[in-house]
Amino acid sequence: MSSSFQAPKGVSEYVPPRADLFYAIREAFAEQARLAGYGYLELAVFEDTNLFRRGVGESTDVVSKEMYTFEDRGGRSLTLRPEFTASVLRAVLENGLHKEGALPVKVWTTGPAFRAERPQKGRYRQFYQLDLEAIGSEDPQVDAETIAIAAGWYRSLGLTRVRLLLNSLGCRECRPAYRARLQEFLRGLDLDEATRARIEINPLRVLDDKRPRVQEQLADAPLMADHLCAACKAHHDRVRELLADLGVEWEDTPRLVRGLDYYTRTTYEFDHPLLGAQSGIGGGGRYDGLSEDIGGPALPGIGFGLGLDRTILALEAEGAEFAPKPRCEVFGVALGETAERRLFGLVAELRRAGVAADMAFGGKKLKGAMKDADRSGARFAIILGERDLADGVAQVKELGSGEQSAVSLNNVASVLKERLSR
Ligand code: HAM
Repeated sequence: MSSSFQAPKGVSEYVPPRADLFYAIREAFAEQARLAGYGYLELAVFEDTNLFRRGVGESTDVVSKEMYTFEDRGGRSLTLRPEFTASVLRAVLENGLHKEGALPVKVWTTGPAFRAERPQKGRYRQFYQLDLEAIGSEDPQVDAETIAIAAGWYRSLGLTRVRLLLNSLGCRECRPAYRARLQEFLRGLDLDEATRARIEINPLRVLDDKRPRVQEQLADAPLMADHLCAACKAHHDRVRELLADLGVEWEDTPRLVRGLDYYTRTTYEFDHPLLGAQSGIGGGGRYDGLSEDIGGPALPGIGFGLGLDRTILALEAEGAEFAPKPRCEVFGVALGETAERRLFGLVAELRRAGVAADMAFGGKKLKGAMKDADRSGARFAIILGERDLADGVAQVKELGSGEQSAVSLNNVASVLKERLSR
């Protein structure tokens, strides 16, 4: 019987074997980040509510509708992080990382984020992101580097159908004029009350409206791409050249708008065609004004957040081959107390040699213990009886073929290590 409790609604949790996959893809990312010189951060899960109000923006759904905000015992308003970028920048500034070494400061972090959304497949109230940020450089090479890290990670997992949708949202010089022009166009359309209200608060979001009746009317809407200032256009062209040099494919998507207010210039999303409504598996972009928005110095930045939950769904949807390292490669079965004691030491020795090893506990009989061996997923079983012990050997059985041979106890670890590497 299960207990009377269940996890709260909409919380994404992982237990084995899926949790092994979750951990393994995160490890694969850690390696990519390390190879590109990004350091790891471990950050607060909750923050001063104003950090997100000012950082992510009051007009966004994330801030206006989806935050888990609470008052602590000292009457302070705190919020469970709905995303990482504002926190990363807060931590970089607070610790003065931008004053310590060469810019950009290159960092990454991971963990749960929280949004009070209506739960459905691929959309959760507690979900997980990999977040990587490069702070303090305007160089388009940094844009291309970060995008290539994300694309490289998806590729390393064996995903083949990920699309990169790319746009530029301009800067504080060119966007206001474009915004006004777009508002003027939108005000002339036949739209419902809520959408009309959005024109005044966040007109770019209207471009993102998926309803066919709205999309039809947007056919001639002015696009940011046609209104970029010379500097933004040069930046965008350069990013695309660099991506082409790196062999990263993308689709120019002039209507791409993201749900957070801080974006400037390079803006993108990774999309997976097999995931239906929640197809955004990652997203990112530049946020050249965010540092000033939260009271810091002028410090341009760029980064991304990749959804771990949706990446796992994408792996499952594609039937991709990526497999976590096995938790058990060798399973020990002992017959009798003396043999069990020796086996216990042998399992420890195997682990020290880097072999994932486990054994039957509770003094099980041969039949039950061999069943455990099969269920463990191990490639080999070591069977140790009292007679073997007297002869100084163990029986090593390959579980797939059933092939069995006696191996000297002194050599078991090295023999198994060698046979596992074949
Ligand atoms: P975001 O697009 O809001 O961007 O989230 C990034 C990714 O997190 C999404 O593409 C999606 O895969 C995943 N995600 C978001 N909400 C949910 C949810 N409710 N359930 C499951 N997965 C979800 C950001 O958060 C930015 N901070 C990314 C960034 C970093 N931009 C610059 N630096």
